[in-house]
Amino acid sequence: MGHLCGMIFDLADLSPADKQYYLQHVIAPRPICFASTIDASGAVNLSPFSFFNMFSSNPPVVIFSPARRVRDNTTKHTLQNVLEVPEVVINIVDHAMVQQASLASCEYPKGVDEFTKAGFTAEAATLVRPPMVKESKAKLECRVIEVKSLGEIAGAGQLVICQVLRLHIADHLLDENHKIDQRALDLVARLGGDWYCRASPESLFQVEKPNTKLGIGIDALPDGIRNSAILTGNHLGRLANVHDLPTISASFDDPHLKQVFQYESLNPVAMEAELHRYAARLLDEGRVADAWQVLLTIH
Ligand SMILES: Cc1cc2nc3c(=O)[nH]c(=O)nc-3n(C[C@H](O)[C@H](O)[C@H](O)COP(=O)(O)O)c2cc1C
Repeated sequence: MGHLCGMIFDLADLSPADKQYYLQHVIAPRPICFASTIDASGAVNLSPFSFFNMFSSNPPVVIFSPARRVRDNTTKHTLQNVLEVPEVVINIVDHAMVQQASLASCEYPKGVDEFTKAGFTAEAATLVRPPMVKESKAKLECRVIEVKSLGEIAGAGQLVICQVLRLHIADHLLDENHKIDQRALDLVARLGGDWYCRASPESLFQVEKPNTKLGIGIDALPDGIRNSAILTGNHLGRLANVHDLPTISASFDDPHLKQVFQYESLNPVAMEAELHRYAARLLDEGRVADAWQVLLTIH
């Protein structure tokens, strides 16, 4: 938990391309909105946008931003379309779709249907005119409630603020209680440059919510634990998430702990290190209560 040295970038001193470069690498990973829109004549457009997120659940509001091009300050067809027809289908991009979704970001001339170019199947939406991407496992039918321009210069974001009307989710992602299996979604997200990441089952992990009860906080940890050279910030975060400082439990009976005491008791420094290593292992396995019992034997 030491202080890191580093470089400071003043955004005002960076070129438009560098502003984009640095921000896109650190504000990552970003979910991908694969937006289907139509113009006044009914011509369909399909393009990916990673300046995208949800900002409200009630009302259900999501925003994405087809920015003015950094290169030549032109506007994107998607933006022109939502100004003509304020409706959009946001198709969520999973790993199986990512290469085709990327292909759809090519700058085809206006009127070229990226469903055809990128090889996706158009499926009629139920409340809005732009079609859905059949291959997408989660799609949001939206009404555009506002387009907020962040400027007229190259790179300026154009916020397309959307109210979600209807959500379509593929059957196989839902369990019998209609809850989503996060692991089955296999979502992808965009980072800087050409980097993407995949939320595959092996890269997912859970962090227990502090819930309504307050964690004791890092500052309330005993000094020997807080200043440990072995326990990391993540370990301390888990330990400090308990509601009350734990006390020694008579029923805690751990053979490995007994061994540590037997072999290391002559050298208190080595014993403390060994106990911290053991606590770290237990914390990595999510066994917070057991880790506390190990640490309480010396702290
Ligand atoms: C994964 C991905 C994410 C993208 N995100 C954005 C974005 O958030 N904003 C943007 O202006 N362009 C973004 N682009 C580039 C647009 O997709 C690209 O400019 C596209 O040609 C716009 O199409 P249109 O003019 O048909 O609307 C992204 C491209 C990819 C591949």
